[in-house]
Amino acid sequence: MYKAKQFNLSGLTGISDQTLEMHFKLYEGYVKETNNLQEKIAAILKDGKVDQEEMPAYSEIKRRLGFEYNGMVLHEYYFGNLKQGGTPQPEPKSSFMKSAAASFGSFEVWKTDFTGIGKMRGVGWAICYQDPTSNQLSNHWISLHEIGNVAGYNPVLVMDVWEHAFLLDYKPAERAKYIEAFFSNIDWKTVDQRLSRPAIAASHAA
Ligand SMILES: [Fe+2]
Repeated sequence: MYKAKQFNLSGLTGISDQTLEMHFKLYEGYVKETNNLQEKIAAILKDGKVDQEEMPAYSEIKRRLGFEYNGMVLHEYYFGNLKQGGTPQPEPKSSFMKSAAASFGSFEVWKTDFTGIGKMRGVGWAICYQDPTSNQLSNHWISLHEIGNVAGYNPVLVMDVWEHAFLLDYKPAERAKYIEAFFSNIDWKTVDQRLSRPAIAASHAA
């Protein structure tokens, strides 16, 4: 069983408390549904086998689990890399600044790539990962919650670009404004901590 985490977030720049409260509720829905689906799987497995007649339902639950589970975890990363009083840029001596320069030539080029992904059409996420074998940063588009995550890569900066993340504050066509707001609230200290930990140490378990 997973428990919804509490995030002490309010008073962000350009992302209203109303948006955050609605977003926390959505996140809690992912936690609840992940638990529900896991219970259903456990019930099917109770007799030690997946019967032929259970297979369609079992398959559908497993597919939905990928959606709900990633929806839960990615929101934890997202809320976790925001804070009141964040800054658009990391400190010049930070691990992230050095990694961005080593991977992209400069922070500016890294940011152009990351925000470019954020402006892509469709609902999903822009995620900056650390490749655990080379330590290089790598930016990716994730469709919905589950399509495009790179196995074993360590998420270091996660940006929700589903419309629910900004629709109360901006028009659908104003995603660039939301992205700018997102950047002004980034907790780069958390981002740096993620960079220095092993990829497997995800922090979503209750
Ligand atoms: Fe979201």
